[in-house]
Amino acid sequence: MAGRIPEKFIDELLTRIDIVDVIDARVPLKKAGKDYKACCPFHEEKTPSFTVSADKQFYHCFGCGEHGTAIGFLMRYDRMSFPEAVRELASIAGMSVPEEAGSVGESERRQADLLDLLKQANQYYQRQLREHPAAAEAVDYLKKRGLSGEIAASFGLGYAPAGWDNLLKALGKDESTCDAMVEAGLLARRDQGGYYDRFRQRVMFPIEDYRGRVVGFGGRVLGDGEPKYLNSPETPVFHKGREVYGLHRARDAIRREQRVLVVEGYMDVVALAQFGIDYSVATLGTAATRDHLERLFRHAPEVVFAFDGDRAGRDAAWRALNTVLPIMGEGRQVSFLFLPEGEDPDSLVRKEGSEEFSKRVRSAMPLGEYLLDTLAAQVDLSRLDGQARLVELARPLIERLPAGVFRDLMTEQLAEKARVNSKNLSTLLGNSQSPASRRDRVPRPRASGQPSLMRQAIALLVQHPQLAQTVAERDAIAGLQQPGADLLRRLLEHLDSHGSATTGQILEHFRDSEDAGPLGKLAAVNERLIADEERDLVTEFRDLLRRLRQQDLENRIQELGERGQALTPEEKKELMRLHEAKKGLSNG
Ligand code: UTP
Ligand code: MN
Repeated sequence: MAGRIPEKFIDELLTRIDIVDVIDARVPLKKAGKDYKACCPFHEEKTPSFTVSADKQFYHCFGCGEHGTAIGFLMRYDRMSFPEAVRELASIAGMSVPEEAGSVGESERRQADLLDLLKQANQYYQRQLREHPAAAEAVDYLKKRGLSGEIAASFGLGYAPAGWDNLLKALGKDESTCDAMVEAGLLARRDQGGYYDRFRQRVMFPIEDYRGRVVGFGGRVLGDGEPKYLNSPETPVFHKGREVYGLHRARDAIRREQRVLVVEGYMDVVALAQFGIDYSVATLGTAATRDHLERLFRHAPEVVFAFDGDRAGRDAAWRALNTVLPIMGEGRQVSFLFLPEGEDPDSLVRKEGSEEFSKRVRSAMPLGEYLLDTLAAQVDLSRLDGQARLVELARPLIERLPAGVFRDLMTEQLAEKARVNSKNLSTLLGNSQSPASRRDRVPRPRASGQPSLMRQAIALLVQHPQLAQTVAERDAIAGLQQPGADLLRRLLEHLDSHGSATTGQILEHFRDSEDAGPLGKLAAVNERLIADEERDLVTEFRDLLRRLRQQDLENRIQELGERGQALTPEEKKELMRLHEAKKGLSNG
């Protein structure tokens, strides 16, 4: 198949990396027996049922059924594409992904070029802040803003000197590089031909994506001037509606705090970090989008928005509330922190210190309260028609909440505030549907009864691939007719040439085949259902194969038996042989 990363490479990659490290870096794991456990990042839970096996190089959540390999985890957790996940792991393992002819799509190659240029530009701007003869103006500005040298360095702040062609001269070595620099948002094209630096005489804030790669810049003017911040335009690698400033850097702190603080400005993030409040991020001059929020909720269950206390801040808060309503799944919390008029987090934390500021964060107003209080302030609750009006105002908002506990609680609160009967209100808001729409989240009940022998055999084999070496009777398996027999044979055949494969490697081998789905599920079957931990796996597996053959013989015997006298002499002989074989099997 064209455009694929060679399978051999993936196989090799999976032997070099350890899924435990990959996941632990994102979801801290605890050792539990020979496996590792954590609360599942893919569904809400209080007791850990998310399990990572080092032996199998496979993860599985017994609660929600999510499962997969290290590659699959990155695809699911970091929303990477398959090639992105492979490249991410390769970079951890210090391997470079082989570029087969046509193996990397044109657009991916282009993106890699742009990222490389952005990285070089970032290095260039940082160097200018240290070395450029005029850098003092930027250093002074940063000092005046109260930034320490360490924090400036740690955020990678840089300096774009005055002049139209500094970066152009430094990096734009030829026409095609210049074109790429335009596409990366670093240069602009002159009307009369040629190029010029987009960022001039500004303090540069590199914007990193979730993997820490520089994807764009914000440039602040030194002192007064317009625009105050000049940002990279939308480019193939930079989307303001997706990226948040400071996320990569704040990831660990956000996990630690179980909370992320969303502020408006670059300077706010940097100043807060300087004061030890290192779990804040900023949207990039845009309102928070659903994409932003979904991304943040993957790191922590609580999002706190900080807004200016003025009119614009209140409007922005109300917009954020509207954005977040449809994704307020259970377990997610959103709060609103309104700052005193005229203050932003930067000025406030410098004025009152981190202790006081943290207190504000902790006592931020919960979404529910904010919603109801804001609406209640618009009506006269001492009048019946005022109470009715409150219900009418709140209704469309509450209806946008996903069905669930939070929505039910909100309905109750509204009922209390508007002094109406909460049962009636609940019916009015259609909350009675909630169990149905919540069904998605509930772990699927395990099918009752034992899985078929074939399923048990395949599950055991994919979970313990070394068992393949113990199968001597390939002929007998070659004849099996039960559903799934083909898959069992394909699996054994693959293991013949990949004797030491882990579960993860097997699944990657079958990723694009029709076997991927069933195999993944069987890899995730709770093996205690099929094999007692204490029992010898080899015996268990042999026994399963023996019973499979027996079942197969019996099926055939029954089939022939039903035809009675109509059997050909050949078939009669076969029937006798089958009976013999069956006897042999039950004795041995
Ligand atoms: P503010 O105007 O509140 O500025 O813009 P600030 O963050 O307090 O900046 P300082 O403290 O004066 O340096 C908030 C955010 O809005 C975006 C930037 O992301 C900024 O951090 N913004 C603002 C722009 O993109 N362009 C602008 O011209 C102004
Ligand atoms: Mn500010």
